[in-house]
Amino acid sequence: MDGAGKDEGADTGAKAPPDRLIDWLADDLAAVNRLIRERMASEHAPRIPEVTAHLVEAGGKRLRPMLTLAAARMLGYQGEDHVKLAATVEFIHTATLLHDDVVDESKLRRGRKTANLLWDNKSSILVGDYLFSRSFQLMVETGSLRVLDILANASATIAEGEVLQLTAAQDLRTDESIYLKVVRGKTAALFSAATEVGGVIADAPENQIKALRDYGDALGIAFQIVDDVLDYGGSSAVIGKNTGDDFRERKLTLPVIHAVARASGEERAFWVRVIEKGDQRDGDLAQAMSLLTTRGSIAYARESALDWAKRAKQALYILPASELRETLLQLADFVVERVL
Ligand code: IPE
Ligand code: IPE
Ligand code: MG
Ligand code: MG
Repeated sequence: MDGAGKDEGADTGAKAPPDRLIDWLADDLAAVNRLIRERMASEHAPRIPEVTAHLVEAGGKRLRPMLTLAAARMLGYQGEDHVKLAATVEFIHTATLLHDDVVDESKLRRGRKTANLLWDNKSSILVGDYLFSRSFQLMVETGSLRVLDILANASATIAEGEVLQLTAAQDLRTDESIYLKVVRGKTAALFSAATEVGGVIADAPENQIKALRDYGDALGIAFQIVDDVLDYGGSSAVIGKNTGDDFRERKLTLPVIHAVARASGEERAFWVRVIEKGDQRDGDLAQAMSLLTTRGSIAYARESALDWAKRAKQALYILPASELRETLLQLADFVVERVL
């Protein structure tokens, strides 16, 4: 996504919500990117900036730091700590991506070969650990114990979600409630922490902070459901990741859970073979995609994402009306429109 300058477009109304956020927050975002570049340096281990720059310079949507910046600005924050927190959030995100691509054995991220492929798993894990630690150094600089509490909890919850996913994968008994726990943990926890700390730093009233947290939680769930739908049939060129990774990793994502619950005897035998036994052959991914369509499972997952987007919007209505609030409302629709 290109960062259009604040003064560039006359009619920002026609732009997609993330681009409108970029316009609104251009100076703040530039400061975040500067800080990220500064703090990803390492005096002693050149492998660290090499690996990090590979990922950071590939871009990424910067959705989570924008949420922090937007939440703080929306509630009138005038200081500078929101930049540190936004960079913290993006560092945590980057660390989880490095680790996630090792765990998922993924080969493509942000349109580039993954670090685990270009270097090795060891580098990805250790540089991920370094970035996690850097994120904690950054958040400590804000001096807010409450912010530390929120982001430390989020970091633990993300790891918990990824580990839960590990044991829920390959198991056809995994149901929607377990799936929800996984996505709440691995994805929504950071979205909700990102929005919540924006409110905390702005010293907003408690009900507004809660609204921001609820918005981030529901937005994160909608976002991950969409990500999971895109894994079956999105365009690799658009999403910058290979599709079919979840199938290969035998993950029980929402569309698959839906299709398994409605499978005929023959279809169930297929799911048992490819997901539980891991016996995957040529043509199986196409067969899975066809079952997800005929069983209405893709449509079901889209509906579910829409529902979470609606919940995200409902949470925001108690906040004072502003253009930033309007953009965050539209962002909830936008993350689902990626598949519609
Ligand atoms: C990827 O997140 C990880 C998920 C939660 C699906 P993003 O899609 O926000 O990744 P980047 O930062 O834009 O690459
Ligand atoms: C993303 O899960 C969650 C984290 C990175 C913690 P996925 O495994 O679905 O994300 P992608 O598809 O690799 O981006
Ligand atoms: Mg992954
Ligand atoms: Mg995915």
